Amino acid sequence: MKIAISGKGGVGKTTIMALLAGEFKKSGKDVLIIDADSSPHMAETLGVANPEKIRAIADMTKLLVERSGKTEGSPMYNINPEVNDLLVDFMHDHDGMKLMVLGAIQTGDKGCACPESNVLRRMLTKLLLSENQVVLLDMEAGVEHLGRGTIAGIDHLLIVVIPSKSSIRTALKVQKLAQDVKIPTISFVGNLVTDEEDKTFLETGLGTRPIAFFKDSKEIRKAERRETPVNTLDAPAGNAPKKLMDAITQQNQA
Ligand SMILES: Nc1ncnc2c1ncn2[C@@H]1O[C@H](COP(=O)(O)OP(=O)(O)O)[C@@H](O)[C@H]1O
Ligand SMILES: [Mg+2]
Repeated sequence: MKIAISGKGGVGKTTIMALLAGEFKKSGKDVLIIDADSSPHMAETLGVANPEKIRAIADMTKLLVERSGKTEGSPMYNINPEVNDLLVDFMHDHDGMKLMVLGAIQTGDKGCACPESNVLRRMLTKLLLSENQVVLLDMEAGVEHLGRGTIAGIDHLLIVVIPSKSSIRTALKVQKLAQDVKIPTISFVGNLVTDEEDKTFLETGLGTRPIAFFKDSKEIRKAERRETPVNTLDAPAGNAPKKLMDAITQQNQA
């Protein structure tokens, strides 16, 4: 299963993805996390010891160009890398999971499809997964990946939304784009939800109920200030990650 996450900046995408990754791992799945944020932050959130040592795909432009089989002209446009060995080369083992960092995606002044997003698209569309494998794609706030069709191979898009008008507006925009690129399953996930009123506000504004709600967690906030990875805390979000995983699994089987 390939799951991506989107939503307005700072709503908790990376945090929720890290918690969800931990939950899938606990349930016995093989987890691969792809950090496709141009300011990657997943390694820190997971507590990778030397995040700067991870080789980002974006730093490997030379290699990508070689793989494209073209040395002159505009190699950026015609990249055709062997996805499988790229996968192995760029996977970082961490705490029983695998992490891959895409790095900065240069849009370029001609609006070209750059090698990084090309590689990502190939990975997502060509990657054949067994029942036991889960790919989690963390993305930045923008909807560039959706617009470029980079995440066309995704099975399920999670849109994180907090109880505010502007967050709902962004979430609905993302939903529309995701429907346009025909992502099979699209769900909302509520974050920083304190009470029933917040849940109702979200449900009314979105026109559907989020599949899971995460509370505003003092533990998560404190951990962030201490730079303690969320996944090392003892259930900082209660049973929300489990509920989210179960809802995703159920919808995937439906
Ligand atoms: N449920 C939560 N409770 C408390 N703090 C949270 C929660 N979710 C996220 N945060 C905090 O909010 C900030 C932004 O979260 P992050 O996951 O980086 O957002 P995004 O990836 O959407 O930009 C971080 O400091 C994170 O620790
Ligand atoms: Mg993030």
